[in-house]
Amino acid sequence: MNLLLRYSSRAAVICMLALKTFTADAQSTVIPIETKNNAIVLRVGDDKRLSMVYFGGKLANQSEYSAVPKVTKLDRYDNVYNSAYTTSGTHNLLEPAIEVTHADGNKSLELQYVSHKFTKLNDDVSLLSINLKDSLYNFEVTLNYQTYFNENVTEQWSVITHHEKKDVVLNKYASANLYVQADSYWLKHYHGEWAQEMRPEDEQLNHGIKTLDSKLGSRADIFQPPVFMVSLNKPAGEDDGQVLYGNLEWSGNFRIDLEVDPANGLRLIAGANNYAANYTLKAGVAFETPKFVYTLSNKGKGEASRNLQSWARKYKIVDGQGPRLTLLNNWEATYFDFNDAKLTALLKDTKTLGTDLFLLDDGWFGNKYPRNDDHAGLGDWQVNKAKLPNGIGNLVKVAKENSVKFGIWVEPEMVNPKSELYEKHPDWIVKQPNRPEFYMRNQLVLDLSNPTVQNFVFGVVDKLFVENPDLAYIKWDCNALMYNAYSPYQKNQGNFYTDYVRGLYSVLDRLRAKYPKVPMMLCSGGGGRVDYGALKYFTEYWPSDNTEPIERVFIQWEYSYFYPALASSNHVTDWGKQPIKFRTDVAMMGKLGFDIVVSKLKPEELAYAQGALKTYKEFSEAIWHGDQYRLQDPRTNDAASIMYVDSAKNNAIMFNYLVNNRYQAGSHLPIKMKGLQEDKQYEVSEVNLMPGHNSSIAAATYSGKFLMTVGLNPDVRDGRNSVLIAVRGK
Ligand code: DGJ
Repeated sequence: MNLLLRYSSRAAVICMLALKTFTADAQSTVIPIETKNNAIVLRVGDDKRLSMVYFGGKLANQSEYSAVPKVTKLDRYDNVYNSAYTTSGTHNLLEPAIEVTHADGNKSLELQYVSHKFTKLNDDVSLLSINLKDSLYNFEVTLNYQTYFNENVTEQWSVITHHEKKDVVLNKYASANLYVQADSYWLKHYHGEWAQEMRPEDEQLNHGIKTLDSKLGSRADIFQPPVFMVSLNKPAGEDDGQVLYGNLEWSGNFRIDLEVDPANGLRLIAGANNYAANYTLKAGVAFETPKFVYTLSNKGKGEASRNLQSWARKYKIVDGQGPRLTLLNNWEATYFDFNDAKLTALLKDTKTLGTDLFLLDDGWFGNKYPRNDDHAGLGDWQVNKAKLPNGIGNLVKVAKENSVKFGIWVEPEMVNPKSELYEKHPDWIVKQPNRPEFYMRNQLVLDLSNPTVQNFVFGVVDKLFVENPDLAYIKWDCNALMYNAYSPYQKNQGNFYTDYVRGLYSVLDRLRAKYPKVPMMLCSGGGGRVDYGALKYFTEYWPSDNTEPIERVFIQWEYSYFYPALASSNHVTDWGKQPIKFRTDVAMMGKLGFDIVVSKLKPEELAYAQGALKTYKEFSEAIWHGDQYRLQDPRTNDAASIMYVDSAKNNAIMFNYLVNNRYQAGSHLPIKMKGLQEDKQYEVSEVNLMPGHNSSIAAATYSGKFLMTVGLNPDVRDGRNSVLIAVRGK
């Protein structure tokens, strides 16, 4: 149960008497926020300022939280360094969480505690809301901490309102302001580019500010995703060390400041990026920031990942506890070059292969400007009559006749200059009025801050469902970032970046209200837009266009720190030179799909792929909803190893890959499994072999204790570069 304790000055004295160890702080109110393993302790000082005095492992005796401020006291600047929401323009000289320009032009803000309210939403979820007000201006902020007790996860956001005589401008408006104290801080963050997503970098944080941010507008994380981890005192291992994971739930510009202050504390300020985004706020309107989600583990990265993954499945991703559809996609099989006959053949191949769904990708629309390549047609969502004279409805029908489902690709936020939409509605497009246009992938972004454009985008997707009630899947792409960020609709351009994302979410809210569970893939020219703000509306995401399997082992590995496997759309394609077995085995570590020409497979390759789909079905419960354990890191080993265990600890699967091609590279020692039941017997055998191939591993039965203590060598080496081990409980 989540607990909130408030210690009045009298209660604090009583605590002091009971504990006898600490001197009571007669003036302070202490507000602990607990999850299963952790506690955040907030303190209201005698000056009514709110600070965060503790974030770490929780105490057995809740009354001891009142003593925390005594031992964690900083110095004469106390209440500034560790402010729970740092203001600006008064006595704070450090990085603020909030910066405002009042109606009269004054830029000072001093927030004081007024009240707090604790609401238990269910057995697991609680919400603490703390109201803060400025004493001079009619300006207030409510800090919200929503805790997920069993998952050790907190979502934090702020709601800003004012009742001043004129508009107020918000110059900075963070979601969360955390304060952590440790000897040293070790940051792991990511950079990337198209097909190079999630490249990690590790560094020790020194004094000063390290900022992780994005200024790309849409597809915000192509260069830098909004996920990171900070280890405290030493770099955390998979099963040891204290580590904090964070992710801003926002599909637009973000900014995460990590400041090691003069007292050696870590001030973490996360929110939407205020770059070119001074937000004009009317009196009486609540400005709600995005949520910042975080989890703290005292037992290393593995536990932190499992915390976030189970939280995401339970509370965030659409149908996170439901099944996923395997599919055949035509993108790399045909690109834009297809017609009814070709697609009918592919629909038959979908059945032959044994996947659940056929996904028709880009190129099915546009008539005046047919979408035959990426230069034209985007925005004109009418079926291309030359390619598909019988319409989408006919394809859905053929799919049904072949007992497979049908899904379709859209990119409704975008427009090619060569399109009817561009000709008809230049005022719907994000671009500078008097400057040359500048394109990414020959396209521009529609102005989703405009409600008329929101209606259009909603209508594009809604029409597909209305006309084709059996439509079973949407791939929602977003290939351009924003150049020339200017909205013809906005009066205050500073509101644009924020209102764009809000407009996008409003469209997605409407779609989800009407089609709550239809699977939708979040794609962005690869993984350019993966965050929990967007994933609230999607069942899965596209991690990268790079599907070369060795690359993919690394990319999926890094995503796995923050996102659950069932959300990772992994397609088998022809990228690279690895055999179909390696490509499929890697894709099976998430939501499996294929994007190959099935009719060109050799008989043994087809038989292998069909068998792999059966193996996938057998272990899908473990992969989709089980616990994931990263056993051996591809960055520091010849062989990468990762395993998934179902929640009953009955069925598990271990994936092993050779990621180094040097002489004699391989798995030379047994790899210790994790997550099994010690006293249970498991039958262990290699699965997913190519037809006619034998395993070098004899099937045998071992106890869970044996597999987790001694381990098992998957015998990964040249010639066996991809090895799947089934672990079946007896
Ligand atoms: C980019 C996506 O990442 C690809 O999978 C494909 O859908 C293309 N867009 C289509 O234009």
